[in-house]
Amino acid sequence: MKIIRKIREMQAEAEKIRINGGKIAVVPTMGFLHEGHMSLVDIAKKHADHVIVTIFVNPTQFAPTEDLDKYPKDFKRDCELCESRKVDAIFNPDCKEMYPGDSSVWVVEERLSKGLCGRTRPTHFRGVTTVVAKLFNATLPHFAIFGEKDYQQAAIIRKMVRDLDFPVKIITGPVVRESDGLAMSSRNKYLSPDEREKALSISKALQEARQKILRGERTAGKIIGGINLRISQNGGRVDYVEIIDSETLEPLKKIDGKAVIAVAAFFGTTRLIDNISV
Ligand code: PAF
Repeated sequence: MKIIRKIREMQAEAEKIRINGGKIAVVPTMGFLHEGHMSLVDIAKKHADHVIVTIFVNPTQFAPTEDLDKYPKDFKRDCELCESRKVDAIFNPDCKEMYPGDSSVWVVEERLSKGLCGRTRPTHFRGVTTVVAKLFNATLPHFAIFGEKDYQQAAIIRKMVRDLDFPVKIITGPVVRESDGLAMSSRNKYLSPDEREKALSISKALQEARQKILRGERTAGKIIGGINLRISQNGGRVDYVEIIDSETLEPLKKIDGKAVIAVAAFFGTTRLIDNISV
């Protein structure tokens, strides 16, 4: 497995693969990998003969008040996990390589990024789309795999690819959960045992919501109310609970087609997100 740190070197490697008729799938990550990421690697392997995992903690998607400095890192373990899943290369640039200091161009999505996480994190998705565009330019992939836990992120990247004609097919993988239902996330590491126990209320509330819908409940407000209550009774501070159209991400009042229930909530200082499709 190659570890590549320079953009030019990554591009040269990707061009070589392409010239030889190879297909490249990239799995963009911020490292501290877990089974959720590895499930994306497995999907990548089904589509391409060369899998690249990018590991870069992207500063431009963190607000000054957020957890950039304490974002968990374990590059050695990440490498071991990637080796064990037969990843071909890790692209691991440093900050100076990605943002040499005089950058002044951003990729900004102006509709899907306004709601949900964008409401409390107004500069977050600008950082995500910019870095993902840069990672695509570095790794020149045919396919890029993203997790559905970051549902809004995946929708925005799909829109970026469509609107800017990136020759990349976006594929998403389902949310991967711990055996007790907690959605896997690098941020789970911040939770104390007590907070982790209480944070299970998110996935439990989403499952209860699904049951209500299966029993015929269609009023979004009632379902949202139930989720809010369950999370706050467990000591969580809800950032948002919304039922949205699966494509436009617009909030729905009534559920009468494919919808997504999306949640963001704090347990202690840790902000968790989760969602289910209904
Ligand atoms: O989902 C993530 O880990 C990040 O937002 C991404 C897509 C790697 C961009 O930094």
